[in-house]
Amino acid sequence: MAASKVSAVPKGLGAMEDVAVAAKKGRWGFVQFFFVLSVVLCALLYAPRVFVLGPAHGVDVVGFFTAANSSEGTSSEEDGGRLVLDNQVHSPCASMRDHTICCDRSSVHTDVCFMAGDVRTDAASLSLLLFPPHDQQKQAPNGSSSTATEEERVRPYPRKWERFIMEKIPEVRLRVARPPDERRCDVRHDAPLLVMSAGGYTGNLFHAFNDGILPSWLTVQHLRRRVVLGVLSYNPWWAGTFGEIISGLSDHHVVDLLHDKRTHCFPGAIVGTRFHGILVVDPGRLRDNKTIADFHDLLADAYEKPKMTPEKTQAAPAETRRPRLGIVSRKGTRVIENQAAVAALASSVGFDVEVLETANGLPLSAWYASLSGCDALVGVHGADLTKFLFLRPGRASLTQIAPLGVSPIARECFGGPAARMGLRYEQYEVTGRESSLARRYAPEDEVVADPEKAKRSKGWGFVARVYLGGQNVTLDLGRFRETLARLHAHALLQRRRRGQLAEETRPKKR
Ligand SMILES: *[C@@H]1O[C@H](CO)[C@@H](O)[C@H](O)[C@H]1NC(C)=O
Ligand SMILES: *[C@@H]1O[C@H](CO)[C@@H](O)[C@H](O)[C@H]1NC(C)=O
Ligand SMILES: *[C@@H]1O[C@H](CO)[C@@H](O)[C@H](O)[C@H]1NC(C)=O
Ligand SMILES: *[C@@H]1O[C@H](CO)[C@@H](O)[C@H](O)[C@H]1NC(C)=O
Repeated sequence: MAASKVSAVPKGLGAMEDVAVAAKKGRWGFVQFFFVLSVVLCALLYAPRVFVLGPAHGVDVVGFFTAANSSEGTSSEEDGGRLVLDNQVHSPCASMRDHTICCDRSSVHTDVCFMAGDVRTDAASLSLLLFPPHDQQKQAPNGSSSTATEEERVRPYPRKWERFIMEKIPEVRLRVARPPDERRCDVRHDAPLLVMSAGGYTGNLFHAFNDGILPSWLTVQHLRRRVVLGVLSYNPWWAGTFGEIISGLSDHHVVDLLHDKRTHCFPGAIVGTRFHGILVVDPGRLRDNKTIADFHDLLADAYEKPKMTPEKTQAAPAETRRPRLGIVSRKGTRVIENQAAVAALASSVGFDVEVLETANGLPLSAWYASLSGCDALVGVHGADLTKFLFLRPGRASLTQIAPLGVSPIARECFGGPAARMGLRYEQYEVTGRESSLARRYAPEDEVVADPEKAKRSKGWGFVARVYLGGQNVTLDLGRFRETLARLHAHALLQRRRRGQLAEETRPKKR
C-alpha cells in the first residue's frame, strides 16, 4: 500500500529517485543530488508520514540473543570498567550481557543493534561477527545457545518507515561466529564501532543533520569520542563537508565499510542510530539527560576550537555593535523578491544586516562563524535553515517565513526544534498578497485562499511542485517591520541581560 501511494506522488520524489539510483550505481553526483533535494526539502520527511505511513505496521519483536549463563557469569563483577554501549533508558539492550547481540527494534523510526564482545568485520558479506571468548569456545564448541545461530540484519538509517529510501541503505548482518569462522585481525581498534550511513538523503543539509549527524550523536555521545565510525556510502563530499563534526564525534579515523576489505576488530559494536524526533534530543530517553544544547556544544567545540579564540576578547566588542541580523538568501524557489528592500528596512530598524547566500560554496565553519555572531536569523522555509543549529541557544532568535501552504511543515521542521534549543522563534505567515502564487491564481482560488484545503484535495505532488517548488514571496514591508522591531527589541533585551550578568562578578554559573 505504501508503494502505490509513493508512486502516486512523483515529481519531486521521482526526480530524486533517479538521482538516488544513479548514486547507488556508484555515480555519486552529489552536487546534483543536493540541488534536487533542496527543492523538495524537509517536506520529504513530512510527506511520507502524512501520505504513506498511515497506521504504523506491527512493531517488530525485539530480537534478543541471550547467551546461556554457562561460563560467562563474570559480566556483573566487571561493571565498573565495562563498556556501556546503549545509552538509552528503558531499552531492552540497556542491560545486555557480554558476548551477546541485542537488537532494539521497538522504534518506528530506527533499528539499533548492539554487540558486546570481540567483534570482527567480514567485508565480503558486510557482516559483523561476534567471537565468543576462547575458554567458552573450547568448553562449548557447539554454542551454548541455539538461538545464537540466527542472524540479525539492520539497515542503519533512521527512516525505517520509508521503504523507498531504506532499500538504498546497505544491509549489515550480525551474528555469533561459529567454529569454522576464523578471522585474523588486520586492524585492531580499542574503541567500539558505530555503523552509520552517509547515504540516504544526506545530500540535503536538513537530512544530513536530522538523519545522520544528530542520531549518531544521540547514539554515541556517551562514549566521549572513544568510538570508531564505520560509515556506509562513505564519500569525499560527506567527509569534507562535515569533517569538523566527524572529528567531534570520534577521535578515530573513519572506516569506509563498503570499500575497506581488511578485517577490523573492535571490543563491541553498535549498528544503526537512535532517533528521538525531528531534530530532537529527548533528555528523558538518555541516561545522561543530554539536551539539544549539548549537541550545540558539539558544534561549538568543532568550529570554535581550531581558531582558539578566547571568548572574552570576542564578546566585548560584539556588545557595542548594533544587533546583527542574518538573512538567508535562497535562489530559484522561495526567493524573497524584495530582499534588498527588506535588508534596508532591517537596517533602518537598527540591525547590522548580513545577507547569507545559500549554496555559496562556503564551508560550514564559515557559516558557523557568521551565524554564531547573529542575534537574529530570518529566512524562508528551506533546508538551509537547519543552520539555526549554529545560533547561540538562549540568546538568538529565528524567524521563519512560511510561504503559502508550507506553514505546518515549517513549524514542524524548524519551529519546534529551534524553540526547544532555546531560541526565540517566530513564524511569519505569508499572506495571499505576498505570494507569487497570487500572480498565477485568482484571489478566490483555494490555492491562494485556503492552502490547507487545496493540499488535501490536490495531494503531495502539488505541494512539492507549487507551494515548495513554484513560489516566491514579496514581504509586506509594513507588516514585516513589526516583526523586525520585535526581533530588535529581543536582541537588545538579551544584551542587557548579559550585561547585567557580566557586571555581577559573582560565581559564573547562573
Ligand atoms: C541463569 O542465571 C539465572 C540467575 O543468575 C538463573 O535464575 C537461571 O536459571 C540461569 N539459567 C540457566 C539456563 O542456567
Ligand atoms: C556437539 O554436537 C555434536 C552433535 O550435535 C555432538 O556429537 C558433540 O558431542 C557435541 N560436542 C560437545 C562438546 O557438546
Ligand atoms: C537525569 O534525570 C533524572 C530524572 O530527573 C535524575 O534522576 C538523574 O540523576 C539524572 N542523571 C544525570 C546523569 O544527571
Ligand atoms: C522566483 O524567483 C527566482 C529568482 O528571481 C526566479 O528564477 C523564479 O522564476 C521565480 N519563481 C516564480 C514562481 O516566480
